[in-house]
Amino acid sequence: MGSVCHDANPCKKPTMTQPSNRRLALRTSAALAAGVALPTLLLLPAIAQTPRRLTPSQSEGPFYPDQALEDADADLLKNGMVDYKMGQPAWVAGVVSDVQGKPVSGAVVEIWQCDHEGVYRHSSSSGNRPMAFQGFGKVQVGADGRYRFRTIKPVAYAGRPPHIHVKVKLGTRQLLTTQMYIAGEPANSRDFLLRGLAPQERGLLDAVFAPSADGWTAQFPLVVKG
Ligand SMILES: [Fe+2]
Repeated sequence: MGSVCHDANPCKKPTMTQPSNRRLALRTSAALAAGVALPTLLLLPAIAQTPRRLTPSQSEGPFYPDQALEDADADLLKNGMVDYKMGQPAWVAGVVSDVQGKPVSGAVVEIWQCDHEGVYRHSSSSGNRPMAFQGFGKVQVGADGRYRFRTIKPVAYAGRPPHIHVKVKLGTRQLLTTQMYIAGEPANSRDFLLRGLAPQERGLLDAVFAPSADGWTAQFPLVVKG
């Protein structure tokens, strides 16, 4: 014989899921009222709960700029008033986040790389050679953690595969120093720095360079310890 309900709300006993569902409903209502699109909202819990792997660190190398720069903005193809028309133009972009996917607002992303002939903006690489290529750029990300640089598709030099150096800072703290590589580049498998990483970590430093209307585009997420 089944149980009989005698209260005013028969057979609708509280469950452990009801309080959290109520909180979710309240958050959903608040977010919708704030103008968050429903499809975006539905994705947020899954994204927030998926831990991401830290971007592996790599050495800074010998060519971090050692001289005063005319220009250090996000457009490396325009050094001050000088346009750089060599190499293959590329957009390099991504999001700076922690392992939970939360953007690291206020982080500063720096990149530096050699020009189309393999020369860095550094006294031991360029000497007194005048350079049109800016060679270094930095941006501070906002609340969405997004960054984007206009630069060239990296080229190989001195036994190294094509790569772009990347550094992430937050205030006085250095959160990450690493290098990004072109996914599928054959020289990657011979590189001494990449060979020092576990195979699953190497993939985290690969960026797919896809052709677009105004050059190449590449996404390189930066996952750091917050
Ligand atoms: Fe380098």
